[in-house]
Amino acid sequence: MTSKKGIALPLTKQTIETLLNAAQGAMKNAHAPYSNFQVGASVIYEDGTIITGCNVENASFGGTICAERTAISAGVAQGRTDIVAICVSNQTDTKITPCGICRQVIWEFSQDVPVICSNKDGDYKVLTIEELLPHAFDLKGVE
Ligand code: THU
Repeated sequence: MTSKKGIALPLTKQTIETLLNAAQGAMKNAHAPYSNFQVGASVIYEDGTIITGCNVENASFGGTICAERTAISAGVAQGRTDIVAICVSNQTDTKITPCGICRQVIWEFSQDVPVICSNKDGDYKVLTIEELLPHAFDLKGVE
């Protein structure tokens, strides 16, 4: 099976490896002086482009943006919304999953996206956005 424009699904080991490396690389730029919890994310689009993000915290804590949303927003600013897969990584042993807000933001752009949830060693589990956010809010379902 492939994505709409031909990226192999399930993702190949090589694509996952590339996404993991990209997320880990972006994590190094995390601005997380308050939580000291660095997160990196990478998003792959239909044309194979990968855009990365890191968490950007703020002294006004509510101004903090997660790595996943940083990456997705950077993509939107470049005209990219055709997300094929997302990867999130961090510096602990835990394979973290996106927060609730990020799940809803991922859902906004694709209801059928694998999310690679990984730890500092690059161990990962893959969950779909539908598994992560059952019963998502969607204006399409509102009468
Ligand atoms: N964070 C992310 O960037 N992504 C997640 O999926 C979970 C949480 C960030 C937000 C905050 O800067 C720090 O991790 C601690 O919550």
